[in-house]
Amino acid sequence: MELTIRELTKRYGSKTALDHVNLSLQEGIYGLLGPNGAGKSTLMKIITDNLRADSGEVLMDGVPALKMGADFRRLLGYMPQQQGIYENFTARRFLYYIAALKGMEKRRAAKEVEEVAALVNLSGELDKKLGSYSGGMKQRILIAQAVLGSPKVLIFDEPTAGLDPKERIRIRNLISEIALDRIVIIATHVVSDIEFIAREILLLKEGKLIAKERPSALLKTVENQVFEIAVEEEALPEVQKRYRVGNICRDEEDTIWVRVITEKEPDGFRMRKPSPTLEDVYLHVFEE
Ligand SMILES: Nc1ncnc2c1ncn2[C@@H]1O[C@H](COP(=O)(O)OP(=O)(O)OP(=O)(O)O)[C@@H](O)[C@H]1O
Ligand SMILES: [Mg+2]
Repeated sequence: MELTIRELTKRYGSKTALDHVNLSLQEGIYGLLGPNGAGKSTLMKIITDNLRADSGEVLMDGVPALKMGADFRRLLGYMPQQQGIYENFTARRFLYYIAALKGMEKRRAAKEVEEVAALVNLSGELDKKLGSYSGGMKQRILIAQAVLGSPKVLIFDEPTAGLDPKERIRIRNLISEIALDRIVIIATHVVSDIEFIAREILLLKEGKLIAKERPSALLKTVENQVFEIAVEEEALPEVQKRYRVGNICRDEEDTIWVRVITEKEPDGFRMRKPSPTLEDVYLHVFEE
């Protein structure tokens, strides 16, 4: 299975949201990272045929998605970032409604609704109205509707936004479980959501795809460039001005350790050299 994105370009007025994006994706999880406004949601809307590109195309195994029409949409599960939810529907009615939209017959829908509800841990809550759901429950029912019908391509736009740490871990594990034999794209700002489950990371910057790499390859790009330096409180503003700064923390001895990403080893500080993480890569790429 191969999903190809060829020369995709989208403008909103004078703003270029996507700029000649080329991609080829196979089975596995892809983490889509980029700052606010980078074009992540625009890319996902175009792939799922919720938005038309100005130019370029999406192909499934070499066949243009627009030509496949409903056949292509049947392959897709999509969890949008901004979703209207039917507050007056019960969760069960909502899932049946989505199943019908996906062209599923009644008996199969009945079986699958139970399965996806169990998958997102909402089996006991299906007869409640969505309006009474908490933010995290809404998020989970939206994941369930995307998974309904076992689509081969799953697109999640910030699936863990607003979830507590426990739910976030559950959703992360869930996504990695269902990823087998499927193409899964996850847009997120939470780097740790995808750091260990992504086959490749896609970095989008101002509408341009600037990297498509395995996490380990990306980590190599900041090798020997991540340091933790001990900084006096008064010197913090100056350090923040001079360096790309990640986490700042205070240890038991009240020393302030500042994580910095820099090509040249900092001079004149007490220093530690931690192992780089994807968050360091993110700061390296996106922080000017
Ligand atoms: N309907 C629209 N009309 C005009 N401009 C738009 C529209 N939708 C998106 N944009 C612009 O296109 C750019 C890309 O937006 P997009 O929503 O794809 O970014 P994103 O990477 O998903 O950001 P976020 O992390 O905030 O969700 C932004 O500059 C945004 O302001
Ligand atoms: Mg978005």
